[in-house]
Amino acid sequence: MTQSVYPFGLAPPSGRRRRIAVIAGDGIGPEVVAQALRAVEPLGIALDIQHFPWSADHYLKTQETLPKGALSELRDHFDAIFFGALGDPRVPDGVVAKDVLLGLRFGLDLYINLRPVQLLDEKLCPIKGKQRRDVNFWVLRENTEGPYVQMGGSFKRDTPDEVAISEDLNTRRGVERIIRAAYTLANVPHASSHKTPRVCMVDKANALPHAHGLWQRTFRQVAAEYPETTSSHLFVDVAAMEFVRTPERFDVVVTSNLFGDILTDLGAAICGGLGVAASGNIHPGRCSLFEPVHGSAPDIAGKGLANPLAAFLTLAMLYDHLGESQAGDRLRRAVEQVVLAGLVTRDLGGQLSTSECGDAVLRALTGATRN
Ligand SMILES: NC(=O)c1ccc[n+]([C@@H]2O[C@H](COP(=O)([O-])OP(=O)(O)OC[C@H]3O[C@@H](n4cnc5c(N)ncnc54)[C@H](O)[C@@H]3O)[C@@H](O)[C@H]2O)c1
Repeated sequence: MTQSVYPFGLAPPSGRRRRIAVIAGDGIGPEVVAQALRAVEPLGIALDIQHFPWSADHYLKTQETLPKGALSELRDHFDAIFFGALGDPRVPDGVVAKDVLLGLRFGLDLYINLRPVQLLDEKLCPIKGKQRRDVNFWVLRENTEGPYVQMGGSFKRDTPDEVAISEDLNTRRGVERIIRAAYTLANVPHASSHKTPRVCMVDKANALPHAHGLWQRTFRQVAAEYPETTSSHLFVDVAAMEFVRTPERFDVVVTSNLFGDILTDLGAAICGGLGVAASGNIHPGRCSLFEPVHGSAPDIAGKGLANPLAAFLTLAMLYDHLGESQAGDRLRRAVEQVVLAGLVTRDLGGQLSTSECGDAVLRALTGATRN
């Protein structure tokens, strides 16, 4: 866990400082982002950080979500985006999250949603008898297709005859590139806790023979190119059961957008919950977006209850993307130390507030720096 495994990073910088866009967003987003950014200075790598205001507050004042030109500015002039969360009950149709988050995922073609499922302390695992080494794998969720493209429509809306259709879009190109990314990750030294790397593809081809038949055929073709990797397949219902029953069987799991969304919340739950779940929305070698898995949690926003550790772990992934994996490893080690010492927020059974937990990470980090 503390050793970086990341084959999707940027080329080395050409003499200039890395540029990071910060979108703190709504609810607990700004609270956890502020804590995580405290780690930047002690990590000792000078970054140019620019904050963008896109959020529910900004939308309610200006009617602006993702402004024109934002995509090309981020793509051409930034190395990574650090994102908090979007979602606010005052914007009931979720237009800000849809335009900004889905807009960036699709617009920047961030086709890999990479989510580590890595237990930091066995005390946090709700499954009896599981050790840290048993819950230590990666999920790659396809991030640009599936039902999230929002194709479909409704007919005779709000009548007893209403018909609603949401299309599940899958392309050969989209499926193949995420499966290839899974094999690339599995074959990085240390990615696997097993003697031979393992990739498990999760689908539901028995119920969705067209779309997920495409996944199965593509998987078989790519798998044949990696005879040294153990390739397996599970239907999503069985995969959900196995995440809980035998998480130790997994190294790298690759799946569709919708199934990845659901399975990774389960993955977070077996590691202690959303408060420790990090993610990256990645296009290899290009500006990519890093965000905690959790949402804006309006139920706890502004109360000092939010766990900032997912945001710290997310920042560590961002450093991996910049090619600064030693900094990422140092930050991961600091988070591990505070979890093992029980210096955590209430969702993990501790007593600390958001900022006190941030203080503990900073202390661990500066202690680690001196070692
Ligand atoms: N990527 C994103 O920005 C994203 C992801 C999921 C949900 N959302 C949005 O967030 C809003 C709330 O959604 P939700 O309640 O379904 O999901 P959520 O992740 O915000 O919260 C789910 C539960 O987990 C708790 N929780 C979440 N993060 C926590 C943390 N860091 N520390 C402690 N507890 C934490 C919350 O208090 C809540 O009880 C909605 O508007 C939703 O659309 C945004």
